[in-house]
Amino acid sequence: MTVLDKLTSKEAIELENKYGAHNYHPLPVVLSRGEGVHVWDVEGKKYYDFLSAYSAVNQGHCHPKIVDAMVNQAKTLTLTSRAFYNDMLGKYEKFATELFGFDKLLPMNTGAEAVETALKLARKWAYEVKGIDENKAEIIVCENNFHGRTTTIISFSNDPVARKNFGPYTKGFLKIEYDNLQELQEALESSNNIAAFLVEPIQGEAGVYVPSEGYLTAAKKLCKDHNVLFIADEVQTGIARTGKMLAVDHENVKPDILILGKALSGGAYPVSGVLADDNVMNVIKPGNHGSTFGGNPIAAAVAIAALEVVKEENLEENAEVLGKIFRADLTEFAKTEDLVKSVRGKGLLNAVLINDTEDSSTAWDICIKLRDNGLLAKPTHGNIIRFAPPLVMTEVQLKECISIIKKTISEFKK
Ligand SMILES: Cc1ncc(COP(=O)(O)O)c(C=O)c1O
Repeated sequence: MTVLDKLTSKEAIELENKYGAHNYHPLPVVLSRGEGVHVWDVEGKKYYDFLSAYSAVNQGHCHPKIVDAMVNQAKTLTLTSRAFYNDMLGKYEKFATELFGFDKLLPMNTGAEAVETALKLARKWAYEVKGIDENKAEIIVCENNFHGRTTTIISFSNDPVARKNFGPYTKGFLKIEYDNLQELQEALESSNNIAAFLVEPIQGEAGVYVPSEGYLTAAKKLCKDHNVLFIADEVQTGIARTGKMLAVDHENVKPDILILGKALSGGAYPVSGVLADDNVMNVIKPGNHGSTFGGNPIAAAVAIAALEVVKEENLEENAEVLGKIFRADLTEFAKTEDLVKSVRGKGLLNAVLINDTEDSSTAWDICIKLRDNGLLAKPTHGNIIRFAPPLVMTEVQLKECISIIKKTISEFKK
């Protein structure tokens, strides 16, 4: 077998099962091509993608402008490491910092690495600027968070599947309830050693939990009053997904540290980054932190193109408009359909709550039927189905997708 041999779906799944670690449970569909809002399986069947690689492919599959930027850069210079300067990184740093309104960017590759970077940055700031005693800094996090898979990050997860038998865990994290300002205030007042509050503006993996209006504004103010950094993890919610460039933009909140990933590259390449102003970022000195691939020329070229696409194609507005249509239509549907409890979300990051017990397979079984009917989505945590299509979708396409979803659920038999 060579890499160019064509496989059937069955063969591809068997190969992964036999030779790959079983760290995921994919929906049984084997994709071999993508364009815009569509993907095709190896047998040629076409689907609407309603996951967008967990909100990485906001700009649509294989966006020509992003692919061109990647290919051109790949033919010119791919990697220098940060041992030398390259002629793309500075351009990208200027572009991204001006776009998001921060002094500096620290480039990394994956979301989890960017979260780790933000945690290290906050701790260093706490010791060197705030004046906390060495090794005493604490960071407040939220229950049901999802920030990635490293040993430190899973140390403050409360998902038993993500944590069990990966200890000993990293210390220095204080957990409070999400969307609870009282608990945040108590935590901030509980100690003089708090460095930062790390929060997802909407909890994506937990099941698209949108906090109460005003929560982010009030949380930021509480942090400011206690000289504590407000860190927004926008790896999933950022880059127009929720109808604004950042989810914090809905409340005009500027985080002290902003974490981006996923759609920063339009899903073409692993690109993540941390943004902060000089008073925070300048604690990082040569040798303190880094990554061989972070800020490489391909990543820089791809990220500039991906961000330009968001602006040129008005993806913020499209996500806002289409998201309202999606929620309005499915909320009406939920009134007459027993299987649907409710619909929630912002922009094109939405979840449909299925009316069944946590441990039932109903949401998964519905996703299998959706697949059969030409639409790919996946359950997240129990009986919640996340719907997050690429933001380049048209209204006509969205309406067709809503019909597929309603028809599939109406015809579903347990
Ligand atoms: C909010 C958030 N932070 C961090 C991550 C981790 O990103 P990555 O999978 O690129 O490491 C994710 C991934 O889903 C995420 O949703």
